[in-house]
Amino acid sequence: MSKKRVLSGIQPTHDSFHLGNYLGAIKQWVDLQKEHDAFYCVVDLHALTVETDPKLLEKRTLLSAAQLIAIGVDPKLCTLFIQSHVPAHNQLAWVLECITGFGEAGRMTQFKDKSQKGGADRTNVGLFTYPILQAADILLYQADFVPVGEDQRQHIELTRDLGQRFNTKYKEVFNIPQAQIIKSLAKINDLQDPNSKMSKSAASMAGVIELLDSPEATIKKFKSSVTDAGKEIKYDEKEKPGISNLLTIHSAFSGKSVKEIENEFAGKGYGDFKLQVAEVVVEALNPIRVKTQELMDDQGELIKILKSGAEKANQVAGKTLSDVYTALGLINNG
Ligand code: AMP
Ligand code: TRP
Repeated sequence: MSKKRVLSGIQPTHDSFHLGNYLGAIKQWVDLQKEHDAFYCVVDLHALTVETDPKLLEKRTLLSAAQLIAIGVDPKLCTLFIQSHVPAHNQLAWVLECITGFGEAGRMTQFKDKSQKGGADRTNVGLFTYPILQAADILLYQADFVPVGEDQRQHIELTRDLGQRFNTKYKEVFNIPQAQIIKSLAKINDLQDPNSKMSKSAASMAGVIELLDSPEATIKKFKSSVTDAGKEIKYDEKEKPGISNLLTIHSAFSGKSVKEIENEFAGKGYGDFKLQVAEVVVEALNPIRVKTQELMDDQGELIKILKSGAEKANQVAGKTLSDVYTALGLINNG
């Protein structure tokens, strides 16, 4: 039996991924590549919906790819590429735009949120068509599953609707994918505000552990993390959200159960515990940071890896696009 195909994408909108992205999504990309035919892309075209300095976008695209590889996304096991290296994404997006209702696109909650926050003047049309480009990312590869966070469920629904609509209207070209909503290995909260999830859009980065932070910065963030009343190291989300979050983080990285860790720290104070969590995390992130830096120091090699991924992606995507064009009655120029 042939392997099921998965496809996912991540935006290069920040220099570094954080612990939440890592445990919530990317670690699972690493696992999925083993048993699936996996396509993973850095969606640089989607990132254009937010105005970014060109030099910064360039750096972040490479940094994102480098971090994915450093974490364990293996270009030998999966197809890792940059979205803009495969022109079929834009080409299919146009076709899909022509079968998407205006109201349908306007109902996307992420668009509504983002456009409301930005105001009419700062809302570009790209933000409006963003989910349609995402649908093209997915349908081009005939993906079976799309591993994403809960916030992306509606976009995958739209993808399915558009794929089905095209199939019914023209020809059965697309496989209809399913969302595979990723249950985070651990829900990681902000170290300064342990009742909110760790997020790139936090007001301050003091409570956000970034994978590329220096060991000193990581230790400092853990040392100044908010803890709770009392002095016992005990998991209690309600009464002790700070300590509970630290226990979750320790457990995710050390592989020990929360109970084991509680026992280990029985009778010890918050200070000791925070330092120990910091050490466990630093030890796990060190190789990722070092590997990312190595890849960034040899960008020629990194780009070669990504180009080779794009070559494979182009073959699959090109075939789908050609079928789509033929089904639409566009004259074949091949
Ligand atoms: P983002 O682009 O920040 O929404 O993150 C990409 C993915 O990382 C999400 O779809 C989630 O699966 C995961 N993620 C982000 N933040 C967290 C968090 N604090 N805890 C667990 N998973 C998270
Ligand atoms: N919109 C997704 C996010 O913000 C990123 C994305 C773009 C994506 N294209 C995709 C995810 C295709 C899965 C499949 O997280």
